[in-house]
Amino acid sequence: MTKFRKAKFKILVTSALPYSNGPIHLGHLVEYIQTDIFVRFLRLIGKDVIYVCADDAHGAPIEIKASELGIAPEKLVADIYKEHVKDFNDFSISFDNYYTTNSPENKYYSDLIFERLRKKNLIYTKDIEVTYCEHCKRTLPDRYVKGKCPKCGTPDQYGDVCENCNAAYKTIDLIDPYCVICKNKPIRKTSKHYFFRLSKFSSKLDSWLRKNENLQPEIKNFVFSWIKNGLEDWNISRDGPYFGFRIPGEEDKYYYVWLDAPIGYIASTENYCKKIGLKTEDYWNDKNCRIYHFIGKDIIYFHFLFWPAVLIGAGFELPHDIVVHGFLTVNGEKMSKSRGTFLTAREFLQKHNPEYLRFYYAHFLSKRMSDIDLSFEDFKNKVNNELAANLGNFCYRVLNFLNKNFDGYVENIDKNKELIDEINEKIKIIEKNYQELNFNEALMEILHISSLGNKYFQDNEPWKLIKEDKEKAHKILGLNFNIVKNLSILMSPILPNFSLNLQKQLNLEHLKWDNINFGLKNHKIGKEEILIKKMEEEAEATQFPLNLKVAKIIEVKEHPNADKLYVLQIDLGNEKRQLVAGLKEHYSADELLNKIIVVITNLKYAKLRGVESQGMLLAGDDGTHVGVLTLDKSNMGDKVYFEGYENINKELSYDEFAKLKMEVKEGRVYFENRELKTDKEIVKVEKVKDGAKVR
Ligand code: MSP
Ligand code: ZN
Repeated sequence: MTKFRKAKFKILVTSALPYSNGPIHLGHLVEYIQTDIFVRFLRLIGKDVIYVCADDAHGAPIEIKASELGIAPEKLVADIYKEHVKDFNDFSISFDNYYTTNSPENKYYSDLIFERLRKKNLIYTKDIEVTYCEHCKRTLPDRYVKGKCPKCGTPDQYGDVCENCNAAYKTIDLIDPYCVICKNKPIRKTSKHYFFRLSKFSSKLDSWLRKNENLQPEIKNFVFSWIKNGLEDWNISRDGPYFGFRIPGEEDKYYYVWLDAPIGYIASTENYCKKIGLKTEDYWNDKNCRIYHFIGKDIIYFHFLFWPAVLIGAGFELPHDIVVHGFLTVNGEKMSKSRGTFLTAREFLQKHNPEYLRFYYAHFLSKRMSDIDLSFEDFKNKVNNELAANLGNFCYRVLNFLNKNFDGYVENIDKNKELIDEINEKIKIIEKNYQELNFNEALMEILHISSLGNKYFQDNEPWKLIKEDKEKAHKILGLNFNIVKNLSILMSPILPNFSLNLQKQLNLEHLKWDNINFGLKNHKIGKEEILIKKMEEEAEATQFPLNLKVAKIIEVKEHPNADKLYVLQIDLGNEKRQLVAGLKEHYSADELLNKIIVVITNLKYAKLRGVESQGMLLAGDDGTHVGVLTLDKSNMGDKVYFEGYENINKELSYDEFAKLKMEVKEGRVYFENRELKTDKEIVKVEKVKDGAKVR
């Protein structure tokens, strides 16, 4: 057992608090997955650890967004909170507490810290010039004022830094400034602000950094150079309108979001402690607790200077480690909405198993601040070759063989000392690498163990051996079973669901690190099932062969040769088509005209009684009534799909179409329990009863 495992300190782990102004995306997930792997490892080895986080609910962008939407900021952050929680859950991010900075606990600690700093004369006020929009009646933060760069003259630059020449400046320095919200010219105004004396902390911060041996050296060097260049006092207040905590004794001034955001770490701890009867001081004022913060490289300044200085000033313990990760790029470039490489957590979930992402990121996560590239090509290769073909297949093969030939019973274990020693050696390396946050190395070794297991199985040919020496073959499987069991433990921080399902199949649940050994026998396993699919198979399962779109009926005529048919002209936004539809007994021409409907656009064109039909509209049919599928908020040409399925645009025959079972329930359409919808609304069906077929 390692020193780390034996040592009796508590651990508090945090991830940076995501802003409440947008969805969780794949970039964020680098951090939450990294932190979660670490926390799960700590729990696995039996450490006393809590993992807290929260939404970062305050700040100007949130207030401005809410005011644009015409809703209260509280409502905006509450809606986003729900989405964030769901996203994190679906990626198995195992927070012990997920809170919000807009909480009573956070107000309490923000005021407490502010007052402590003020009493120590670490806060003072000073008048400064700000950029103010008289039209919007607000002071404009950096990102809400644009103008010409004062250095190079490039137009349309934000109020803090020029994208062309990288010059940093103040909003008031911009030439020909304009308000981003209303485009009017702002004025300069003086306003009283509160400053934190960061400049007083140079030597304290310097010595903390020097003494702390956990911090990444490359980051320390950055920070040393900032300290050397001289630290400026920090403006910790903002003028209203602002969404935040009002400064005590002020009418319309608020704490700057970056003051109360990290205090949110303490507030979330407090909220958790209250719930389960612990004490916040045991985490934040106790030398026997190690605090680990995980952050991205864009917020180093806040976490290595402001935050420790505030903690020192207000009398709290300093972090044991601040782990900084790099940024995510997709296919080698910055994530971009227009290139389709800005993927939200939700979008990823609609296509893939979330554990694929955990697996992929783990390959690149280490205690170095390197950027991570998500290359779709590499992603697919890793998932298919390493996860599915190596790990998943090995586990399945062993369980399947045991069940088929030995009734799922593990009796004895082959004493292959050489193999066991080799694996034990790797297990030590894996433990060390997990502990030191080099998950990439840990994963390589785990996959290597799986390869060794595969090779051992293959080389011994148990399918042949069983005919000559059944007992020996059984022992081989006994050792294989123990390797699989160990893999389920070793892999669990990275792939919690895979491991849980595997352990269920093994008839062993919630195994801990201490259960890693080669001695489990006289045990009966459960039924084996495929644990992880290859990516094409997964993709096929989520593809839907119909390409459905929103259309509007723009003309209705009687069919020249058929009593029951109409000939419709429809508008699909960027094209018009003609459909033949058997609706005459159910709808008058007037009822249909201008109706917004759902059309299959990839159906093979067909002639119906001499008139071409270039697709088909969807309707429900319960035997008595026929009612068309309709929409009211969507636009012509919008895609219509079943949640979780992707439409494919390959030509489809009527027979292939007829095999798809879509059904009506409570006026809505379902395919394999997924609801038919557009991005804007759920599709409705007129007239028909539950159980009606859709055709
Ligand atoms: N609200 C602040 C943090 C306050 S902590 C007291 C913030 N929020 S954020 O939503 O912008 O980012 C949250 C975390 O996600 C940060 O650590 C940030 O570095 C990380 N990432 C955001 N985009 C990222 C990538 N594209 N790639 C990797 N990490 C990224 O900052
Ligand atoms: Zn304005």
